[in-house]
Amino acid sequence: MKFAVLTGGGDSSGMNAFVRAIVRSALNIRTETSVLGVLDGWKGLIYNDFRQLDKGSVAGIASAGGTILGTVRVPELATDPILQESAARNLHDNRIDYLFVCGGNGSIKAAHAINTLIKADKIKTKILCAPGSIDNDVCNSFGSSIGFYSALDKSHEMLEWIKDTASSHRRVYLIKSMGRDSAYLAFYSGIAAGAEYVICPGEHVDYEYLATMIEERDRDTRIIVAEGYDQDLHTIRKTLEDIFKKRNVIHEIRTVDMSYFQRGGKAAVADIIRASWVAYRMVKDAYAYADSGFYTAFYTGHAPTPIPLEIAADDNQTNHVGIPNEIIDFAIALR
Ligand code: F6P
Repeated sequence: MKFAVLTGGGDSSGMNAFVRAIVRSALNIRTETSVLGVLDGWKGLIYNDFRQLDKGSVAGIASAGGTILGTVRVPELATDPILQESAARNLHDNRIDYLFVCGGNGSIKAAHAINTLIKADKIKTKILCAPGSIDNDVCNSFGSSIGFYSALDKSHEMLEWIKDTASSHRRVYLIKSMGRDSAYLAFYSGIAAGAEYVICPGEHVDYEYLATMIEERDRDTRIIVAEGYDQDLHTIRKTLEDIFKKRNVIHEIRTVDMSYFQRGGKAAVADIIRASWVAYRMVKDAYAYADSGFYTAFYTGHAPTPIPLEIAADDNQTNHVGIPNEIIDFAIALR
């Protein structure tokens, strides 16, 4: 058989463990298999940029952050038929039996679009996808994407550092978190680090209430602002400062952006195990001639579960629908 492996969208720690596990399981289970790496993600598929991989080329990469294959965003791919045609043609011309993708929301949509075209053109390549993103916006509610726990670990550590200064100076910190518009990373970081409040995308924030909460604590307060919220840190800071001015009280406010620090660096063990297990499962299923699909990376202890690509590519059926009430109630109870 001939396999290709691609990492798409924003890099996430655990993608390298995924690539390694694809290559190692493919070649250990059947030595005659050929595995190609697609360079620079979807761009490489569109422009036919492949590289032969062997067991040695993936040695020692499991815990390294980023992706050794590279990734370039091509957002138009999910909708542009010319780009999709080019990607499908390269899969056909390279005689790829299975393309293994590790990527986020945009990658799953692109994979679904190419898969639809492949089926219509009767190209024999099948596509199997795994969720790889710090945003956790591609799985079912209680699953997690590869890279999410690594990003959480880093966020947690940064929030602990900020707490030291915040409590020493009795300051308020407004802290920006990445996560696109899903808020998962911000929310779980808040739970893990015991932050006082997480502002989520689309939320109608009651700033008078928030100001009262800060006043009542009169200690350190860390407020996490999720990326998709429509006001930047400085606007939020100004709003709170104006309220304090009117109330004739003083609270020092500082802002800090954790964003790109959350995304890079060493992979969490949970992500390495999950990425490796999902990749292994995908290879096994490819050898059993599985149809195209998407694999949710559930928490360690639960086997990866495949679901159809069209469900994974549908925003109404994934974490895009928002954080479940059960998790919100749990977070509020710990405040
Ligand atoms: O999808 C991962 C992510 O880090 C998002 O949280 C963020 O919105 C986006 O990528 C940033 O992308 P870029 O690296 O292209 O600026």
